[in-house]
Amino acid sequence: MDDVVIARALHVLAVVIWIGGVSMATTVALPAVRHGDLGADRFRAFQAIEHRFVWHARTSVVIVGLTGFYMTARLNLWERFQSAQFWWMHAMLCVWLLFTLVLFVIEPFILHRYFHQWATTAPDVVFAWLHRAHWVLLGLSVVTIFGAVAGSQGWSVF
Ligand code: HEM
Repeated sequence: MDDVVIARALHVLAVVIWIGGVSMATTVALPAVRHGDLGADRFRAFQAIEHRFVWHARTSVVIVGLTGFYMTARLNLWERFQSAQFWWMHAMLCVWLLFTLVLFVIEPFILHRYFHQWATTAPDVVFAWLHRAHWVLLGLSVVTIFGAVAGSQGWSVF
């Protein structure tokens, strides 16, 4: 079972790097960018942080997905997806799918093309929405992590 132990360790390590970065972006970087603390050009300040972090996030999402599906297959946990008691398994999958969509589809194909234009036309509105979206993703992730750690130790709300 050493392989499952290693997969779990890699899974959690990647979650820490990824969601830790999302937390930093939401609670520290974005407020600083919005208030102009990193320079008057908010788009440039945001880009400088985002284009570096996006690769950490993408790599982590791939590792979390591979290790997550590996553990599910190896321990044959597919039945859990049919039970509400294991809501945190559904939550992990949903958070992973959501971030995969954001990082591999929305960011490169939509934000990369149109964000500069939006951010120069209505910067206050655009950065407020961006910040709100980060809070939603962070909130879902935090609940998921809490549920997964407690749930894998046998705790359940149902
Ligand atoms: C493709 C998506 C994912 C799959 C298939 C998956 C699968 C798994 C499995 C099978 C476990 C072990 C459960 C057990 O031992 O009973 C686990 C643990 C865990 N997962 Fe995921 N996961 C996924 C995504 C995520 C995401 C997105 C997060 C965080 C936001 C996350 C956070 C955790 C945490 C914190 C644990 C508990 C580790 C521990 O306390 O030992 N997972 N995951």
